[in-house]
Amino acid sequence: MNNFEFCNPVKVVFGKGSISRLSTLVPVGSKVLMIYGGGSIKKNGIYNQVVEALKSFNVIEFSGIEANPHYETCMKAVELVRKEQITYLLAVGGGSVIDATKFIAAATCYEGEPWDILSKGGFIKQALPLGVVLTLSATGSEMNERAVISRVSTHEKLNFASPAVFPKFAILDPEVTYSLPERQVANGVVDSFIHVIEQYLTYPVNAKVQDYFAEGLMKTIVEEGRKVLQNPHDYDIRANLMWAATNALNCWIGQGVPQDWSSHRMGYALTAQFGLDHAQTLAVILPGVMAYMHKEKQAKIIRMGEVVFGITGETTDELVQKSIQATEDFFRYMGLKTRLSEYGIKEFDLDALVEPMKQRGWKLGEHGNIDYKVAREILMMRL
Ligand code: NZQ
Ligand code: ZN
Repeated sequence: MNNFEFCNPVKVVFGKGSISRLSTLVPVGSKVLMIYGGGSIKKNGIYNQVVEALKSFNVIEFSGIEANPHYETCMKAVELVRKEQITYLLAVGGGSVIDATKFIAAATCYEGEPWDILSKGGFIKQALPLGVVLTLSATGSEMNERAVISRVSTHEKLNFASPAVFPKFAILDPEVTYSLPERQVANGVVDSFIHVIEQYLTYPVNAKVQDYFAEGLMKTIVEEGRKVLQNPHDYDIRANLMWAATNALNCWIGQGVPQDWSSHRMGYALTAQFGLDHAQTLAVILPGVMAYMHKEKQAKIIRMGEVVFGITGETTDELVQKSIQATEDFFRYMGLKTRLSEYGIKEFDLDALVEPMKQRGWKLGEHGNIDYKVAREILMMRL
């Protein structure tokens, strides 16, 4: 196991009816900006629950955060925060709303051009405090210090991380996910599964706690994920998926182990240039990364295949191939496409897709050996 330092300060309030706890979590006297997306919270009753819980607070609203949140929209919120002298941000939504809120929290206090936070790794000294009411379990953003923001004008999608943007609290009520469209449910299952993979499917460093924990999460996500579309109002399925997704990226399983994240980073361009949902990009790319890197990842691929999908076989090669196939089959079972051509993307498009990697000189993966040329080969395998 590698050395590590770990602190996750997010207070989690989990379970039915937990939105009513808001009034005890937001500090008394706060001037709150409630930030949300395109309005799903008004249809499913979450909005009313939040407003009711915060009735003793001075609350202003900012809505219209897009899926894959736009820098341009976040900057409008920053203006409002400054004008209204907001002291506390409340994200009510999925990963996009939470990420946008983290960026708004940091950008408000940032001296200089806030885009530098994303494009140049600008240091965040300070951020406004923020809390979360989660409405979609997928990203783990509710319990981590990361965010991903897109700039429409330049077709860029970039991430940042800072301890200053850890939420102060996260309210996780599995019942709020009943209203999710099937596509978002499936996206959440696939995204959270791949978060585990990014931290597990590298090479062994004899980190037993992390490995067993990661395998428990993957088994949970696969077992419950296979049931959820047929049983959308089953509380236990939703609760297990929600808590698994949070644990998949609250950085606990990634301590002391090598991490990959190449599928995620390669996927940004697919969203920025072709508008694929975040999880859709991953379902296409991950099987390619597994196949291309099968020698480097062999031990973990075989172990994952056996533990999570019950794969058996005679030879190493057979075990590896069957494990990769089982992974792709799971994504297809969830209803996601796994080929670029299914989204109308052709060989002709690949240069543009790897151009951001080329410009930024990214070398991805646990060995840092996936540059833009290798990325192109991996994408080529996924046409
Ligand atoms: O806009 P609203 O009305 O909120 O509707 C959303 C949106 O259309 C809808 N939705 C959310 N909760 C709902 C609901 N509809 C009905 N009922 C509910 N309870 O679902 C749609 C998608 O929401 P979004 O927040 O975009 O989805 P997700 O949670 O998958 O977030 C994706 C974003 O997170 C980033 C992705 O790159 C992407 O931008 N990620 C953030 C990470 C992090 N901060 O750690 C890690 C991830 O790997 C990921 O990169
Ligand atoms: Zn993800």
